[in-house]
Amino acid sequence: MQILDGKKLSAEIKAEIADTVKKMVLSGKKAPHLAAILVGNDGASRTYVASKVKSCEEVGFKSTLIRLESDITQNELITQINQLNNDDSIDGFIVQLPLPKHIDEEKILLAIAPEKDVDGFHPMNVGRMTLHLPSYISATPKGILEMLNRYNIETEGKHCVVIGRSNIVGLPMSLLMQRRSQPGNCTVTICHSKTNDLSKYTLEADIIIAALGKPKFLTADMVKPGAVVIDVGITRVDDASTKSGFRLYGDVDFENVSKKCSFISPVPGGVGLMTVASLLQNTLSAANEEFYKKTIDFSVDNI
Ligand code: GUN
Repeated sequence: MQILDGKKLSAEIKAEIADTVKKMVLSGKKAPHLAAILVGNDGASRTYVASKVKSCEEVGFKSTLIRLESDITQNELITQINQLNNDDSIDGFIVQLPLPKHIDEEKILLAIAPEKDVDGFHPMNVGRMTLHLPSYISATPKGILEMLNRYNIETEGKHCVVIGRSNIVGLPMSLLMQRRSQPGNCTVTICHSKTNDLSKYTLEADIIIAALGKPKFLTADMVKPGAVVIDVGITRVDDASTKSGFRLYGDVDFENVSKKCSFISPVPGGVGLMTVASLLQNTLSAANEEFYKKTIDFSVDNI
């Protein structure tokens, strides 16, 4: 069994990005600039955003963190988003999810200019990703592809089972794994809370991507010997014996599944770190106008 080491890979990717940024700046270009909007005080979200900001510093990006109170109105948030859409000094930005219940997440994601949507959540980017057109691919699925690629894991012709159908991970992941590319060319099954007899599918899987957010859900009896197991879950469970007061658990029973599979990503130290690295890659693409010009041009020539 081999560990899919997100710590090592993300450090590698950050070093590549830092190198590119250095060359950009030497050639007279400005450093890429990522902004993040964080609404409210959720502990996990604060940690994720802090890690994104810190990673920007590590690679030489500029970053701006905009913290807003949890009782901000939807319209006020949209006004803030419009300011970032129109601010030429910002290459890309994210709105950390989840948002407070009184705010309609779909409306917020729609308000983000697709050319600055480095999270790849806007329907324009999801649609373009689905059709295999150049687009931002949301950070967690992109990080998983990068992980499979950098560990030279053959995916063609394999059966990939994705557990979970969220817009952020499960849905895009299932689409990406069936695309005509490497990684890709899989036969994909997407399983979810209404799937009957889940083990029937997972036991046939060559690659399992667990993204449902239930600690230790995938147990060894559900996994075929030699399978590749990617754990996307990251749940905080209260634990008074730790300094932070909680412990992080993935969706996979690592201790037992790791004895049976060929590759496995740990939690922490796996997919989470890849997500941040992918966000930086997307921001670098935004700064270099890789997918979109600053003003969107929908003509055929721009595809
Ligand atoms: N919440 C959980 N994952 C993500 C992510 O990748 N991006 C944003 N903006 N919010 C999240």
